[in-house]
Amino acid sequence: MKDDRLLTLGIETSCDETAAAVVADGRIVMSNIISSQIDIHTQYGGVVPEIASRKHLERINDVIQNALNDAEVRASDIDLIGVTYGPGLVGALLIGVAAAKTMAYALDKPLIGVNHMHGHIAANYLEYQELDPPFMSLVVSGGHTEIVNVTDYNKCEKIGGTRDDAAGEAFDKIARVIGLGYPGGPKIDRAAREGDRNAIHFKRVYLEEGSYDFSFSGLKTQALNYLNSERQAGREINTNDVAASFQEAVVEVIADKAVSAALEFKRNKIVMAGGVASNTRLRELLEEKAAEHGIEILKPSPLLCTDNAAMIASAAYYAYRCGERSGFDLDAVPGLEF
Ligand code: KG4
Ligand code: ZN
Repeated sequence: MKDDRLLTLGIETSCDETAAAVVADGRIVMSNIISSQIDIHTQYGGVVPEIASRKHLERINDVIQNALNDAEVRASDIDLIGVTYGPGLVGALLIGVAAAKTMAYALDKPLIGVNHMHGHIAANYLEYQELDPPFMSLVVSGGHTEIVNVTDYNKCEKIGGTRDDAAGEAFDKIARVIGLGYPGGPKIDRAAREGDRNAIHFKRVYLEEGSYDFSFSGLKTQALNYLNSERQAGREINTNDVAASFQEAVVEVIADKAVSAALEFKRNKIVMAGGVASNTRLRELLEEKAAEHGIEILKPSPLLCTDNAAMIASAAYYAYRCGERSGFDLDAVPGLEF
């Protein structure tokens, strides 16, 4: 039923989730439909872009209709359409962008192209109704490991990022080589709970003094070398210990840098975002380190951390309120920067 709240339809197809959601006034999730392709891509050990695009195309109309049905609204009740236009897989993004443009045209409603990473941060506006910028954000996902200084709803500045692999990517790779399968992050998280994080010492890479950048490729090589030498020596590998030790080396550096950034920029909140933000140990360690300085950690529920369209709707709403509009020439931008 339509009331006087501004209803945003969010659409997300940047990777392997076909998602649509209806959000009221940028804060209230009325529906959040996620059709995951994980089972299909698992057979190949990772996301196959061509398959992802085809699946998005098959599912997008039903997913949008389900989002409207779940929210108990009609398409004509929607005030605004927000869609992820990058970063992501080009063929996958194009399906969402085309669906959003078609709906915006047919319904004669404004269209807002959303940066997927801004969407991850906006997930926190859904989880924390009182949250307003400014704050420091830690965005950790399959493709990104970034520290972002958020000064306003439509203003943010990346102050550090990964120079090679993203944290999620590193988890996914190590999980594959120790036989945990895809997607690796949640599996490493689970295995690590049964392991000893001090069993193997993996290096912590902090780069230059004062830098908020990350590098995980050396750590990944060290872990691969360790696994090879253990196998060659005929020693049995304790998967849980490797998972726990590797995870610790990744999350310790991330937590330290996020806290340093909050201190330098005088922010009393660190807002977590992205799939890796649901990592149990990262949440725990970051909270521990932040508490020493009176900094609060905001951590959305796992469903809002991983890819979803409610976060895209929220980001679109705030972009709209700040005067942004996209034209029908909106295109997918796979390498879109922050
Ligand atoms: O944000 P997201 O859903 O998609 C991207 O935008 O990339 O993040 C997916 C990434 C994957 O690399 C996945 O392995 C990782 O997040 N991930 C985790 C956990 N849950 C998901 N990594 C560590 N611990 C977790 N619990
Ligand atoms: Zn994402």
